[in-house]
Amino acid sequence: RHPGWPAKLGPLRVPAGILAVRPVRLRDAGEWSRVRLRDREHLEMWEPTGIGPWPDRNAFWSWPSQWLALRGLARRGQCLPFTITVDGRFAGQITVGNVIRASLRSAWIGYWVSSDIVRGGVATGAVALVTDHVFDFGGLHRLEATVRPENTPSLRVLGKAGYRQEGLFERYLDVAGGWRDHFCYAVTKEETGDGLVSRLVAKGLAERG
Ligand code: ACO
Repeated sequence: RHPGWPAKLGPLRVPAGILAVRPVRLRDAGEWSRVRLRDREHLEMWEPTGIGPWPDRNAFWSWPSQWLALRGLARRGQCLPFTITVDGRFAGQITVGNVIRASLRSAWIGYWVSSDIVRGGVATGAVALVTDHVFDFGGLHRLEATVRPENTPSLRVLGKAGYRQEGLFERYLDVAGGWRDHFCYAVTKEETGDGLVSRLVAKGLAERG
């Protein structure tokens, strides 16, 4: 067992509904595949370049191997792979990856939300829940999020959640078939005060329970 894993986070009331975050499950296969096959245009331009065609990579039968790989990394303390739910239904994923411990104690955070539920505060709430969790229970001190400058919604999510821009990584990630510049956003535990969720609640962007 590694600190902070497995965990269920929330619930949090956001405009889209009741938001919660829990470990990825093998039985997410059906909804994961249905949403991702439908949402190719919404997702592909922001995601790391994959091997093989989108329909194959996101087919029902490709989830078990992805889930096994994520579970293996989670069991080794290298990753915290969560499913986002809204009103109990699959709504996307949020993942803390490349966890480095020792004197760095840092990781990246990445997320996506089903197109039929965007603009309802889901990603912002999920980022706040997961950030507070890894700082309070996961033994981490810093989280980093890298975002393409064109990704206005995701930049907005990080701003609302309390991350700050640290710089621009040029030709940083192989995304949608090319080396793309990314803004680097980050937050350290010292900056979070009573927690990012508490701040969202104080700003009226979410309610507990
Ligand atoms: N132009 C300007 N602002 C926009 C647009 C747009 N086209 N679309 C959405 N927004 C704003 C919303 O209005 C909202 O801001 P507001 O609350 O000030 O009105 C904000 O962007 C979105 O906030 P949330 O509702 O909390 O986020 P949501 O649940 O809609 O999810 C996300 C945002 C995750 C970026 C979703 O759009 C998505 O899955 N996109 C595709 C995948 C992706 O880009 N993932 C992030 C990659 S970067 C990373 O993981 C660090």
